[in-house]
Amino acid sequence: MSAKGRIAILTSGGDAPGMNAAIRAATLVGLAKGADVVGIERGYRGLLDGAFVPLGAGDVQGILREGGTILGTARCKEFHERAVRDQARRVLHDRGITGLVVVGGNGALMGALALTDPAEAPSDGPVPPPRIVGVPASIDNDIGLTGLSIGVDTAMNTIVEACDKIADTATAHDRTFIVEVMGRDCGYLAMSSAIAAGADLVLFPEAHRTEAQIVDAVVRTVLAARNRDRRHRRVIAIKAEGVHVQIDRLKQQVDARLNAEIAGEPAAIETRVTVLGHVVRGGRPSAFDRLLGSRLANVAVQALFAGKTARMAAWMPPVELEEEIGQRSVADPYCWLVDLGAVIVETENLLAGRSPLARWRAGIFDELEDVLTQ
Ligand code: F6P
Repeated sequence: MSAKGRIAILTSGGDAPGMNAAIRAATLVGLAKGADVVGIERGYRGLLDGAFVPLGAGDVQGILREGGTILGTARCKEFHERAVRDQARRVLHDRGITGLVVVGGNGALMGALALTDPAEAPSDGPVPPPRIVGVPASIDNDIGLTGLSIGVDTAMNTIVEACDKIADTATAHDRTFIVEVMGRDCGYLAMSSAIAAGADLVLFPEAHRTEAQIVDAVVRTVLAARNRDRRHRRVIAIKAEGVHVQIDRLKQQVDARLNAEIAGEPAAIETRVTVLGHVVRGGRPSAFDRLLGSRLANVAVQALFAGKTARMAAWMPPVELEEEIGQRSVADPYCWLVDLGAVIVETENLLAGRSPLARWRAGIFDELEDVLTQ
């Protein structure tokens, strides 16, 4: 093994465009610093199976243009068990891994935090805890203490492109489209895409609306659009998947209400639904996601060489940070190194609507509704 140690990289959870840029940057920076670099295939599952592959400069050439992750990924439920994490720590120790970069979402980062827990693996024990720095990657943008996660920008661009196309046919037919987008329990992707796509309405889970209120919001938007001139009567309503009203059921209820409201009028109002699904997660990463993946991975690897552990590289945190929670990265003034435990807590708060950021997001989009429907 190199005197500078051995860095391992894994990607875990749902893939996100830009993960390959992170793998490439972590590899190139690790090699430039004189370390050995290995990739772990299929996330924590591959770690348990010992699926290690050496990574050289040639292995990562050109990959930043590709979506998905060249290392593969998986969701590994067994990682919730202490015995499984003990096994993972042993594998990392036996393979001489001196630092691990975990690229992924909430589940991946929770796994990383548990692996570094000194209560599970004391540093003077036979298997000391591995040094780990996380890199946030999830199209959902539901990870705390980072302004953006890898994959969000590409996913948003994909949604906007799809909505632009839908808008053409919707305009031609004066139709209403309800477009469902991914994002798990977080409305960020739906919200930001709605602004960028010029949508008329956004339905997001943080608003906590009842089914009847959701139907009402769509109906009001459609009726308001009928007052516009003919070329602008189409309606695009973006629905986050975290709004738990089945989309076909929503369409049926909207149609029934509209038929009752406009009974006797000659022009029927037609609605259609489109579920974008996994299309949103694929495709070539945008230039921004390539840059973000590269910069966050650079910060993560530099932090490992500086002896840090249980941290996450973050992009411009959207909240004030106390000194003990995070510091600006010396490697990149736009990036921060934040405490991994604090990230997990803030992620929970964000999803439960408890953090100031969550309240701001919900409030601003409530306010925006009147703006969008004009
Ligand atoms: O977390 C990323 C994400 O794409 C979510 O938006 C979505 O709910 C989920 O993963 C889908 O997971 P899977 O690909 O396992 O069905």
